Amino acid sequence: MIKKLALSALTALALSTGGAIAAGGEAYVTDYDFSFEGPFGSFDQAQLQRGLQVYTEVCSACHGLQYVPIRTLSDESGPGLPADQVRAYAAQNFFVIDQETGEERPATPTDNFPANVALGAPDLSLMAKARAGFHGPYGLGLNQLFKGMGGAEYIASLLSGYTGETREEAGAILYENVAYGGYLSMGPPLYGDDVVYADGTEATIEQQAKDVAAFLMWTAEPKLMARKEAGFVGVLFLVVLSVLLYLTNKKIWAPIKRKD
Ligand code: HEC
Repeated sequence: MIKKLALSALTALALSTGGAIAAGGEAYVTDYDFSFEGPFGSFDQAQLQRGLQVYTEVCSACHGLQYVPIRTLSDESGPGLPADQVRAYAAQNFFVIDQETGEERPATPTDNFPANVALGAPDLSLMAKARAGFHGPYGLGLNQLFKGMGGAEYIASLLSGYTGETREEAGAILYENVAYGGYLSMGPPLYGDDVVYADGTEATIEQQAKDVAAFLMWTAEPKLMARKEAGFVGVLFLVVLSVLLYLTNKKIWAPIKRKD
């Protein structure tokens, strides 16, 4: 009976595997190393600042970041910019519609980053959590257990994954991308040296892609470090509690056990 069950389970797995491979594209996502990975990982402030620069100078031309308050750029667990720099950054880079006067004015730290719907590009605030870089195997999701969701890896791979192939469809040019697993309407936004980093880091395509991906991970999950810390304290608490319960249990049953 068990043999029969195991056999049919195997057959089902084999069948679904075939289906999954046939259905999924040939998307390829590189497993980049990020500082915020693992149970003790944390954001690299210098990298977040570089990523902010790439977003501001390249991506913000098409993509909004409307759910992110500009003031959070001074968060210690985020880019950690001094308050006066955040004020200057907001005023220099973005215009927003004032809620009260209805007129356009330079942004202040109390505003969110503006939305940008001009070209139909998706908002990037939560993109790093909306996409997964790793799937499978065979629909089991084990890759995500070991490698993480891979949202940041997906974004970094997307930005450096253009093959150079293009295709025209209904008058629009589409660009082939290995991470996307097909053609998308965003042309390659990075060519190398698109920004000049203040800290002297060389602005290769891959470096810029990783930096902006890390920055977008922060915008999507600004409390990641606090969450990991809370999780660690929780696990530590449960370990101590388990030891205490074990000892209590021993003590309670000790007189009865000794009798027999
Ligand atoms: C010239 C405009 C333009 C620029 C500049 C640009 N994008 Fe895009 N982006 C788009 C458009 C349009 C789409 C929608 C593509 C589609 O769905 O076919 C898109 C889609 C995306 C997606 C979603 C892909 C998916 O899986 O659906 C991500 C992530 C992204 N862009 C990141 C970036 C980053 C990061 C930058 C800056 C380095 C950037 N983009 C610069 C226009 C742009």
